[in-house]
Amino acid sequence: MEKEVMEKYVKAGNILFETQEYAKKILQPGAELFECAEKIEEFIVKKGAKPAFPVNLSLNENAAHQTPDWNEKTTLKDSDVLKVDIGVHIDGYIADGAFTINHSGEHKQLIEAAELALKNAFALLDKDPSFSEIGTVIEKTISEKGFKVVRNLTGHGLARYLQHAPPSIPNIANNIEKKFEPGKAYAIEPFASTASGYVRESGKVNIFMLEEPRPVRNTHARKIMRFVEENYKTLPFAERWLFRELKMNEFELRVGLRQLLREKCIKAYPILHDVPNSFVAQAENSFIKLEGEIIPLVVPSAGKTKSK
Ligand code: CO
Repeated sequence: MEKEVMEKYVKAGNILFETQEYAKKILQPGAELFECAEKIEEFIVKKGAKPAFPVNLSLNENAAHQTPDWNEKTTLKDSDVLKVDIGVHIDGYIADGAFTINHSGEHKQLIEAAELALKNAFALLDKDPSFSEIGTVIEKTISEKGFKVVRNLTGHGLARYLQHAPPSIPNIANNIEKKFEPGKAYAIEPFASTASGYVRESGKVNIFMLEEPRPVRNTHARKIMRFVEENYKTLPFAERWLFRELKMNEFELRVGLRQLLREKCIKAYPILHDVPNSFVAQAENSFIKLEGEIIPLVVPSAGKTKSK
């Protein structure tokens, strides 16, 4: 990996670490999720980077892909299990990381199961593990804690402007003898569930991504596509971002997005959820694999210690 590229990954990771600390501070009971999402993304920009995808604030049985709508009034409750998944990129080089909050403390064990699974997987990285060994240790850790690992969510590669690049890294026992390749970046993200350990797509979508730009007739659709190509490229974006940036009204925005979806210019990322009234926790960190060395990305910048 070129030195310049590596420096961008490392810087993105350092900024993500700081952003997580900031997010933990503001995501208090009673806080409006919409405001928090916007503030967290603003924080990233102030630090000289960009959000690699809309901040995911997924509640309770929702495992991923939930981000507030532009007109949403949801506030954080003491009892909520909130997954905070944040991506930071510099020039397309992405650091991806997540943690889970539960202020009431009722779901401490569930959160610890996801965190310990991530920790155990990272502890193996120095031993050049296969994907089989990684999946096995994650599943084992979570089931030993008495929870279900979410089977159909995986870790993934990170490539320039591609948040979910191949390969997929299963969170369950598997027979993939493949190993991490030097010169590449990856994210590991176990999810622990109190229920089925299998997520389904809901009908609700807050997040989209450019799939294949092509000429479209509808004016609103064309305006959206041009803006997305220029500003987000092949990274996911939120409807609320467009609402804020494009100054279109709700009707124009909805018409435009619907048209782009119909023509398969953009792809929808529906909220992924386990069964109603269950709880899912997530933990995630990214790393760069070099010859004989692993560089975790979501860490304080060198010389700085964790602020208390
Ligand atoms: Co990820």
